[in-house]
Amino acid sequence: MAATRLEGLTAVVTGSSSGIGRGIALALAAAGARLVVCADLKEGHVALSTSAATVKTSLSHGAEMVSRALVTSKDNNDESVDTPTHELIHARYGKERAIFVRCDISREKSDAADGIFSIENAIQEAVSRTGRLDVSVSVSVLFRATSANQIQRLVNNAGAGILDIPLHEMTAAQWNQCFGVDSAGTFIATKFAVTQFLQQDEDEYGFRGNIINVSSIAGSAGLPGCSAYCAAKSAIIGFTRSVAIEYAERRIRCNAIKPGYIMTPLLHKIIETTDDVTWLEKASPFNRLGQPKDIGQAAVWLASGRESGYVTGIDLSVDGGFLAR
Ligand SMILES: NC(=O)c1ccc[n+]([C@@H]2O[C@H](COP(=O)([O-])OP(=O)(O)OC[C@H]3O[C@@H](n4cnc5c(N)ncnc54)[C@H](O)[C@@H]3O)[C@@H](O)[C@H]2O)c1
Repeated sequence: MAATRLEGLTAVVTGSSSGIGRGIALALAAAGARLVVCADLKEGHVALSTSAATVKTSLSHGAEMVSRALVTSKDNNDESVDTPTHELIHARYGKERAIFVRCDISREKSDAADGIFSIENAIQEAVSRTGRLDVSVSVSVLFRATSANQIQRLVNNAGAGILDIPLHEMTAAQWNQCFGVDSAGTFIATKFAVTQFLQQDEDEYGFRGNIINVSSIAGSAGLPGCSAYCAAKSAIIGFTRSVAIEYAERRIRCNAIKPGYIMTPLLHKIIETTDDVTWLEKASPFNRLGQPKDIGQAAVWLASGRESGYVTGIDLSVDGGFLAR
């Protein structure tokens, strides 16, 4: 039953080489998606370090949660296997079930000169192989890569540096970098997906296509030092609602997921650069951090016209109860 929930569906997932995007790509494939187009700036996957030395505060309960999450990641093997996402899907379900397409989600136009393409290219690749696109998953990103030279640096630094700036010290340039890039990537991916959806017929559940935008609990809760980040994540939720209303009559669904604290390389990097991780103790009343597969399962439900066909315009919290407090 589980292996056929998304049978026949073609999906594009941005940010699919790491963390939440990887968790979603793997879950869609496990649920039977016919083709998962793994779209990312980089192909390789960086496994989480499970070294206890990376957790600076060893005595706090927050540090214990981090250690436990790292071990669980290893046991679950999704985040610890140092294999690109599409290759993992090949190994598990067959070579025809996934491809990798290099793209920069913040780019509206492709530039053959530097070999980095916009998400439009990934969508065209999906359509050329299966005849249509059913699901577009946009995992928002924090940085804009404007040239090939910048890409490695930006990938290495993704998530660091802009999440902890007191408002009174923030420059407009920093605001624009965080707010503009994070939400603009979602806009660009959605725009190209909708353009494709409008050209295709309705599926067996009566839909032309389905968009899933990854926002954050930061879209609904304030976090100190994160005003631009919170504003960008809120913008994705407002955008999602608007797209849902604008295209409902044309049979396109659009929903958002708000992950809580999920153990990914991004969160790991933030934890590594902080001396005090006691804030993680408030991460969830379940007393554990989330895993990328927790978000993957929510995406599978939203992707299924059979299971969530009457759902559009929502922002689904998958946060272990963080926002319920
Ligand atoms: N990890 C969490 O706890 C958490 C919680 C809520 C929301 N989020 C949000 O989810 C998103 C993904 O987070 P993550 O933890 O999985 O991060 P991650 O760093 O593990 O993965 C991000 C992926 O995006 C790719 N990427 C970066 N810039 C890109 C670009 N311009 N074009 C295409 N791909 C690009 C990277 O190569 C990487 O594979 C972020 O927007 C983050 O704010 C994360």
